[in-house]
Amino acid sequence: MSRYYLAPLEGITTHIFRNAYHRHFAPMDKYFTPFLVPHSKKGFSAKEKREILPENNEGLYLVPQIMSNHAGDCLKTIGKLEEYGYKEINLNMGCPSKTVVSKGRGSGFLAFPEELDRFLDAVFEGIGNTDTQISIKTRLGKDRPEEFGPILEIYNRYPLKELIVHPRVQKDFYKNEPNLPMFAYASGNSKSPVCYNGDIFTLKKYEEIRQAFPETEAFMLGRGILMDPLLLMRIKNQAGEEGAEKGKEQAKLCGFHDRLYEDYRALGMGDKNVLFKMKELWCYLGQSFPGQEKALKKIRKAERLDRYEAAVEELL
Ligand SMILES: Cc1cc2nc3c(=O)[nH]c(=O)nc-3n(C[C@H](O)[C@H](O)[C@H](O)COP(=O)(O)O)c2cc1C
Repeated sequence: MSRYYLAPLEGITTHIFRNAYHRHFAPMDKYFTPFLVPHSKKGFSAKEKREILPENNEGLYLVPQIMSNHAGDCLKTIGKLEEYGYKEINLNMGCPSKTVVSKGRGSGFLAFPEELDRFLDAVFEGIGNTDTQISIKTRLGKDRPEEFGPILEIYNRYPLKELIVHPRVQKDFYKNEPNLPMFAYASGNSKSPVCYNGDIFTLKKYEEIRQAFPETEAFMLGRGILMDPLLLMRIKNQAGEEGAEKGKEQAKLCGFHDRLYEDYRALGMGDKNVLFKMKELWCYLGQSFPGQEKALKKIRKAERLDRYEAAVEELL
């Protein structure tokens, strides 16, 4: 049976989002924290602690994600995460952001294969015989998809729990199409189980990917879930598993929205930040409401919570 993961989306798939999603829609098999960057001296920040505290993630299988190119710092962070009970850690080799890449992190690390190999060697040496498992979320390379051949050779030297492949290069950011031939290469040549990630926005797209790669057992969904939180239910319905009854979709969206909104408000982050968080989600969720441009515009323009609530009520 296929497995489904919620992609980490910095600023969006917070513990508040993950919990609201998990309670209202088809639960994911795995959730990932947005990346944690090790600070060589300090411990976790208050925000980071909120993300990883087990009591904030009850009932969810959560994989903390680390973004680092420094094995010592990375190992320290792994050690701290182990203290919270985590046994699976994901390493980010995919972030395309310029500030990250310029420091040789995220997908920027892929331009330095020798360093990458030394880093992984030290990390695996460091975790030794503990039962901690490491997975990697990767792009194909920095500039060209062909970079992936040697990168995969490096990944194949280590006993990865799994390799999550978003088949784009850093230079693509989120443009162009995922490179399916290169995903096929990854799938055929990886020694670790491979998970597909990238542009599954509709049931149709999911079906295309699944049929193109019948051997793939795990799929990671990101923006598709933000645009249509019922997407996994649609996928599971089609697979003959439990799913949403038609007609209840609106109520589900409403329940999800209200929980998310209330939980962000309860964090005491201030009205402006609550509005920012909710509007960021609406940039994606708005696509579930074709032809409702006017109401969506009111949401975007709302500067106060009462205006926001009225605009959402009009739409939902
Ligand atoms: C706003 C935003 C934030 C993201 N933050 C992270 C992150 O913290 N860690 C990570 O590995 N990938 C991050 N990604 C990449 C996604 O996890 C995912 O790989 C990418 O969006 C492709 O999948 P999708 O097409 O299903 O969204 C982010 C993407 C977006 C758009």
